[in-house]
Amino acid sequence: MCGIVGAVALRNIVPVLIEGLRRLEYRGYDSCGVAIVTAEGPQRVRSVARVAELDEQARETRFEGVTGIAHTRWATHGAPTVNNAHPIFSSNALAIVHNGIIENYESLREMLRGKGYEFVSQTDTEVIAHLIHSLYKGDLFAAVREAVQQLSGAYAIGVVHKDQPHTVVGARAGSPLVVGYGEGGNFIASDALAIAGSANRVSYLEEGDICEVTLEGVRIVDRAGNPAERPARDVQAYSGAVELGPYRHYMQKEIFEQPRAISDTIPADVAFDPVQFGENAGEVFKGIDSILILACGTSYYAGLTAKYWLESVAKIRTEVEIASEYRYRESVPNPRSLVVTISQSGETADTLAALKHAQSLGMEHTLAVCNVASSAMVRLTELKFLTHAGREIGVASTKAFTTQLVGLFILAVTLGKLRGHVNAQQEATYLKALRHLPAALNGVLALEPQIIAWSQEFARKENALFLGRGLHYPIALEGALKLKEISYIHAEAYPAGELKHGPLALVTEAMPVVTVAPNDALLEKLKSNMQEVRARGGHLYVFADADTHIASEEGIHVIRMPEHYGLLSPILHVVPLQLLAYHTACTRGTDVDKPRNLAKSVTVE
Ligand code: G6P
Repeated sequence: MCGIVGAVALRNIVPVLIEGLRRLEYRGYDSCGVAIVTAEGPQRVRSVARVAELDEQARETRFEGVTGIAHTRWATHGAPTVNNAHPIFSSNALAIVHNGIIENYESLREMLRGKGYEFVSQTDTEVIAHLIHSLYKGDLFAAVREAVQQLSGAYAIGVVHKDQPHTVVGARAGSPLVVGYGEGGNFIASDALAIAGSANRVSYLEEGDICEVTLEGVRIVDRAGNPAERPARDVQAYSGAVELGPYRHYMQKEIFEQPRAISDTIPADVAFDPVQFGENAGEVFKGIDSILILACGTSYYAGLTAKYWLESVAKIRTEVEIASEYRYRESVPNPRSLVVTISQSGETADTLAALKHAQSLGMEHTLAVCNVASSAMVRLTELKFLTHAGREIGVASTKAFTTQLVGLFILAVTLGKLRGHVNAQQEATYLKALRHLPAALNGVLALEPQIIAWSQEFARKENALFLGRGLHYPIALEGALKLKEISYIHAEAYPAGELKHGPLALVTEAMPVVTVAPNDALLEKLKSNMQEVRARGGHLYVFADADTHIASEEGIHVIRMPEHYGLLSPILHVVPLQLLAYHTACTRGTDVDKPRNLAKSVTVE
């Protein structure tokens, strides 16, 4: 989603700004731009194509400057056009880049129109530009401070003014912003990754902070205007662009990386010991009586799967909520609940806000299951479990999901052991199953040719149903989400028992019905549901376990999973669904790694 980079330096900074945008590209965006400050006013280049095209424009026009701001935009207010791309100007004096959404932009726009400002874009950002301009009396920092007090909504901004050619001012509330300290230059960015290398150290701004970045240094004040010290930490060197290797897309690469990612995520000394979640985790775990999981998207489905494990293995009551719903709902807080947030990026605005909401309701015990160690979420929670999926580039999450499941399973067994519901023999069985997962996954990945054959048929469909029961219902949900995200085929998932309460009306010959059919206690019930589909002419595509007795016949296509995997079976069963979505999308020729309208890190609500 939107990204910000800004810099004040002794040298031409445009290549650094554009490199920063390139590193943020994978998050998803639909336009981009850079502005530099000159005494005549800010100058900019913008593009609705890729950052590479912006780079070409900058090179061709010899676009250079020592102070500048840059942006990747994911459209919220106003279509993704060049005119709406940031940086946005006011009166040819000031330029701004903005992540987030301003909620009171309509009233501000009316007020500013009354003062004679003309609006030339459809963005909410333009009100911030004119507002700061209207308040500017020779001190950009002061004008930004005054302006942000009138904004409601979420924002991270970077602002420059022609009369202060060696200053960038930044501010944040609701969207992340860091300041970076380098040799011969100082920076701002929405993610440290964008400026790593140019900046050696960064400080994370806190809610309401405003910063002034100059060549001499960085000044930060808090919401109340008091000087604020934000600890500086070393930035990890940028590890370079992730190579595609022999794969066609990052998504395919990430699907095939899952055995490695899972093996890296299982701690070498995994002993289902609370200390793996933090030093005081043992104490915290002893004091809790329930779990509240908060997440969005694929991470939410990981939470739904975890609920089955937490309730059956650890016998602890577990609720799972979509973060964007929870944060605005009146709920009954339980201070003895452990709040577990699940997030690949650790930056999803709704999940962060839901976490803060839970904390504000007095739920102080929090745990993040997250893939990014330096993320805001990991910094906000008391306990953590880091997944080691490695950087995930494909917008559709794959290896992040299966590694989250591994972390959540370890949590369930750890709590189960602590609460006296897991004996030594069960513990040994769980450990063995975890350790064997990477090998078992390799067996599932070998099914790719059979799945490619199915994907040819799926590519011609416009709708699909996914069925699962129990522990595999969230897997059906995830399979349907993968298919719709990247192939644009309308897909819905149902717990198979619900079929007769509605979706059966949709079943005709044209409706493929994907069925997740592990050999578990619900298999016989699932088989009855499959007959209900067959009786209406529906075509079933069944992922069955090796030992499941379901034979291929007219209208029933079966792919057999190499082994039956008990409680950890969802981690295996989701992989063929990822592959089915991937190959169907490839056949339909969509932009698999950057599906239309979607972003990798959703930093606005
Ligand atoms: C976006 C991504 C999804 C992801 C969701 C939650 O929608 O496209 O792949 O599941 O955000 O992201 P998080 O980083 O919090 O897991």
